[in-house]
Amino acid sequence: MIQARTALLRSSRSSLHRFVNVTSTATTKFAAYQTSRVSLTSFSRSLATKADTSSSNYAKVFNPNSEKVGLDNLDTFARRHIGPTPANVEKMLKTLGYNDLNEFLAQAIPEHILFKRKLKIQPQQGFTESEMLDHLHEIANKNKIVKSFIGKGYAGTKLPPVIQRNLLESPEWYTSYTPYQPEISQGRLESLLNYQTVITSLTGLPMANASLLDEGTAAGEAMAMSYHNLKGKKSIYVVDSNLHPQTLDVIKSRAENISVQIVELPLSTDAGVEQLKSILKDVCGALVQYPGTDGSIHNYKQIGELVHSNKGLFAMATDLLALTLIKPPSDFGADIALGTSQRFGVPFGYGGPHAAFFSTSMKYSRKIPGRIVGLSKDRLGKPALRLALQTREQHIKREKATSNICTAQALLANISAMYAVYHGPEGLKNIAKRVYGFTTLLANQIQSNSTHQILNDKWFDTLTIQLNQVSADEVLLKALNKHNINLFKVNESTVSVTLDETVETKDLIALIDTFTGKSFDIASINDTLPSLPTELLRTDQILTNEVFNTHHSETALLRYLHLLQSKDLSLANSMIPLGSCTMKLNATVEMQTLSIPGFNSIHPFAPIDQAQGYKQLVDEFEKDLNDITGFDATTSMPNSGAQGEYTGLSLIRQYHKSRGDYEKRNICLIPVSAHGTNPASAAMCGLKVVPVKCLSDGSIDLVDLQEKAEQYAENLCSIMITYPSTYGLFEPGVKKAIELVHKNGGLVYLDGANMNAQVGLTSPGDLGADVCHLNIHKTFALSHGGGGPGQAPVCVKEHLKPFLPSHHFVQTPHSTNESIKSVNSAPYGSASVIPVSYSYIKMLGADALPYVSSIAILNANYMLTRLKEYYPILFIDSNSEGLKHCAHEFILDLRDFKAIGIEAIDVAKRLQDYGFHAPTMSFPVAGTLMIEPTESENLEELDRFVDSLIAIRQEIEAFGKGDSLGNVLKNAPHSLEDIISTSQSDWETRGYTREQAAYPLPFLKTSKCWPTVSRLDDTYGDMNLICTCPSVEEVAADQN
Ligand SMILES: Cc1ncc(COP(=O)(O)O)c(C=O)c1O
Repeated sequence: MIQARTALLRSSRSSLHRFVNVTSTATTKFAAYQTSRVSLTSFSRSLATKADTSSSNYAKVFNPNSEKVGLDNLDTFARRHIGPTPANVEKMLKTLGYNDLNEFLAQAIPEHILFKRKLKIQPQQGFTESEMLDHLHEIANKNKIVKSFIGKGYAGTKLPPVIQRNLLESPEWYTSYTPYQPEISQGRLESLLNYQTVITSLTGLPMANASLLDEGTAAGEAMAMSYHNLKGKKSIYVVDSNLHPQTLDVIKSRAENISVQIVELPLSTDAGVEQLKSILKDVCGALVQYPGTDGSIHNYKQIGELVHSNKGLFAMATDLLALTLIKPPSDFGADIALGTSQRFGVPFGYGGPHAAFFSTSMKYSRKIPGRIVGLSKDRLGKPALRLALQTREQHIKREKATSNICTAQALLANISAMYAVYHGPEGLKNIAKRVYGFTTLLANQIQSNSTHQILNDKWFDTLTIQLNQVSADEVLLKALNKHNINLFKVNESTVSVTLDETVETKDLIALIDTFTGKSFDIASINDTLPSLPTELLRTDQILTNEVFNTHHSETALLRYLHLLQSKDLSLANSMIPLGSCTMKLNATVEMQTLSIPGFNSIHPFAPIDQAQGYKQLVDEFEKDLNDITGFDATTSMPNSGAQGEYTGLSLIRQYHKSRGDYEKRNICLIPVSAHGTNPASAAMCGLKVVPVKCLSDGSIDLVDLQEKAEQYAENLCSIMITYPSTYGLFEPGVKKAIELVHKNGGLVYLDGANMNAQVGLTSPGDLGADVCHLNIHKTFALSHGGGGPGQAPVCVKEHLKPFLPSHHFVQTPHSTNESIKSVNSAPYGSASVIPVSYSYIKMLGADALPYVSSIAILNANYMLTRLKEYYPILFIDSNSEGLKHCAHEFILDLRDFKAIGIEAIDVAKRLQDYGFHAPTMSFPVAGTLMIEPTESENLEELDRFVDSLIAIRQEIEAFGKGDSLGNVLKNAPHSLEDIISTSQSDWETRGYTREQAAYPLPFLKTSKCWPTVSRLDDTYGDMNLICTCPSVEEVAADQN
C-alpha cells in the first residue's frame, strides 16, 4: 500500500532545471550586487526518502509520551536534543510558507539525492537517557581494569578531582570553540598560554604550540618540518631505533607519501653514529627518544652537532615528567622537542584523547605546526591574548601549508596545564622523584634477588628486563593473574615495566614478587627513596612563573578555573552559529561517558581480552556509521578531520598502488570553495592539486570539472568534494561530478564535515562516493573542547576496505597485508570519545536521526527567511528564479557594506555585545558571515540571534548615514572595563550611550556574556611575538 502510494507520488515529481547567469535585483539598499543563480522550478512532490520526516510523525518522535503515558520510560532524548517543539516547527514552517515538514524538505533537498532506504540503527526508537547509561555501564564493565605498567608513551596518572569536575566535566570548558574570537576567549587562551609555558620551561626551547594530536603525529610534523626546512633537497630522515614503535609507524606512513626515506639507526651506539656520518649529506633531520622506549637515558649532544653540521634539524621525543628532573632537550642542542602530555592528568582512555606538545627555537617559530597563543593588546592598549600568526593556517596556504593541524587537543592541553598549575614545580618534581625512586627500588631488587638482567643502565621510570629461565609470557601471566598488573612483552625473553604516578607500595611488592619470587619488606627502605644520579639532572629552575606557584590549594584552583571560564563564551551562554562547525548540544549523558572508569582506565596496548567492551562499542559504532554513510567499512583511527582526509586519500593512493598506478595517478581535483585542509591533505599525500572552478551560484563548474577530469584522465587520483558544499548548498551537480571522476579513473573523497544536513536523508555512499570522513566533533555531538578533541572515522566502499590502516601493537578489525600504516599513535584514535557519539546515535535511533538533519535545515532556512529582508544572502534568492533554500547553513553577504566603511569583522565583533559568538567569518567567501544554527537551538534562541542581527542592520544603516550611533560598530566589542571606566568626557565623543553599547536589546539586561577585553590588535601581536606567560621579573616590572 505504502509502496503503491510512493510510486504514485514519484511519478508526479518535479523536474529540475538549471538556469545559469540569471541576475536579480537585491532587496536592500546595500544589496545591489550581481550574482549568477541556480533556478529550481519545482512542482509539488513528496520526499523519496523512506525515512518518515512528516510534521505529524515529528510530534511522535519528539516526545513519544506526549499523548499517552504508558509502561515506557519517560526520559526520552529527542526532545532534549532537538530545540524546536512540534508547535515551533509549525510556526517556522508557516513563516516559510509551508504546512508540513515533508513539504518543506521536498523543496529544500534535490529529489535525486534522497536515498530510498530507512536507517537500520537499533534501537529504532532510541534509548532513553537512563537506558543509555545502563547500556554504557554494561559495555564499560566488559573492559577489564588492570593496572597497566605497559608504558610505550602512555603512563598512569591521577586526574585531580577539582580539575575533573570543574574542567573536564564543565560545559563552559568543553563546549567552547577554537578561540578565533579572542575577546570572548581570554580564559582558555590564558590556560593554553600556561600549557605553552609548561612545555617551553620543561623542554628548554622557547617556542611551543598549544597542542597537537598525539605523539606520533607530532613526530610526523617534526619529520615534515625538517624536510621542508631544507626545501626538500635532502630526503633522508633518521630515527633512532629506540623510538616508540607506534611513533615510527606514523612517521613512515607520513614519509612514504612525500618520498622521504626513513633510516633507522642505533644512535646511542658508536656504530650508529658512524652510520649517520656516512649518510649525513642527504639527511634533513633526526629524531631520538629521550628517555628511550626501553627506558634508557643517553646523551645525544653529538647527534645534535652532527645533524646541525649538515643544516638538518635535531628533534627529541621526550617525557614531561622526566624533564622535571633530567636535563632538557635544549642542553643537547635540540631544535625540536615533542611528545605527549598525557601523564599530566589525562587518563589512558584506550589511547586518547591526549594533547601532544611541540616546541622549537625562536629561529623556527614561524614554521611550528599547529596553533600558537600569543600576547597582543586590545583597542584600549590593554594586554590581551589571541591566536598568533593565523596567516600560517591552511586556509591561507592551502596546498602550500607545511602542516595540517586544524582541530587539535585544546581541552586536554588545558587539563595538563591545570595539572601543572595545581602541583607547581615542587609538586611535579615530587611525583617524578617518587616514580624514579620506586623504579630504582624495583631495579635494585631485580639485580640483587634474581638472575634477570636489566638492559638499560640508566632509567627514569622504565626498566627493560632480559629474563632468565622464564619466558616473557610466564612473567606477564604471573603479573596479571596474581597481581592484576599488565607489563610489556618486548620479545619472548624480555619484558619492560614503566612505573607512574599511580604506583603504590603494594604494586612495588607485587612487581618484586613477579620478578624475584621473594616477598619484600617495605619497612626496610626507611621511607627514603633513591634519587637520580647528578650527571642526569637539570640544573635550571622550572616553572618559575607566578601562575605555577600560586593556585595550590583546591580553593585557589577552583577559583582560578572559574575565573577563566567566566571570561569565555561557550554553548552554556548562547548559540554558537559557526558555519561548517556544527556547534550542537553536547548532551550531559553523552559527555558523562568520559568519566566512566571502564572506558578511561584502559591502556591502548592492553591485551585485547581486557578490552572487550571497547571491541563491542567500536564494532557497533562502525556498523551504525556504515549505515548512516552508506558505506561498507569504517576505521575509527583518525583523530581529527584533517587526519581523516589524509587517511582517506592515503587509502585511495594505496588502491591505485594495488593496481600498479601509484606513481601515475597523482592528481587531486579540488573545487576552489573547499576547506583549506583539503588541499593541505592532498599535498601531504604527495598529490598535485588541480583546482576546479565554481560557478557564481556556488556550485561546482561541471564544464571545468569535465575538462580537467578528461585532461588528467591518465593521472587522475581523486577529487575531494564537500557535500552539501562549503557554501551550504545541496548542489544539484554532485552525482554528475562523481560520475565524471569515476569515468576518468579517479576515486571520490567526500568531506563529511557537513554530514549534519544528510543523516537519514542522503549519504556519501548513496551519492556514489568511495570514501568519506566524519567529524564526530561536529555531526555526532562530541564537544569541540575549545579546539579539540576531535575524532574522524573514515568510511569506505568495499574496494577500499583491504587498505584500512593497521597498527603495530593491536590487530585492528580490518587490517590486512595491504593495509596502510597507522595514521596516528593509537589503534582507535581518541577511543574514549567514541562513547559520546555512540550514545548520541543510540539515543536518537533510526527514527529521530533524520529529524536532526531535517530540523537543522529548517532552522537555517527559518533564520534565512527572517534575515533576507535585511541582508543579502549569498546564492539564495527566493524572489526570482534563484535557489530558494539553503541546506543547514547560509551566508550573509556583507561585502557591499564595505562601500560605506563597514566590514564583516565589525558585525562579528558587535555580535559579542549582543552576547553571541560570531558566525564563521570570511569562509568560504571573504567579507561574509556563514551561519549554521544546528537542530539543537530552540526558536527563542534563533529569534534572539536574528533580532540581534536586525538591530545591527539598523546600526549599519546609521553608520551609512553618518549618524554617530553607527560608531558603536567600530568600537565593538565593549568590555565591561570600557563601559565602566571610560571617563564621561571621553565617552561623549563617541556619540552613543553606554546603554546602547552594552544593552542594545532588552534581553541582555538579564543575560549577557561580557567580552573581557576590547577589540584585539592582530598586527601588534604578530610583530611582537610573545607566546609564554610573563616571567616573575616581567610581572614585577609591570607592577612598578
Ligand atoms: C569542510 C571541512 N573539512 C575539514 C575540516 C577539518 O576538520 P578538523 O578541524 O577536525 O581537522 C573542517 C573543519 O572545520 C571543515 O569545515
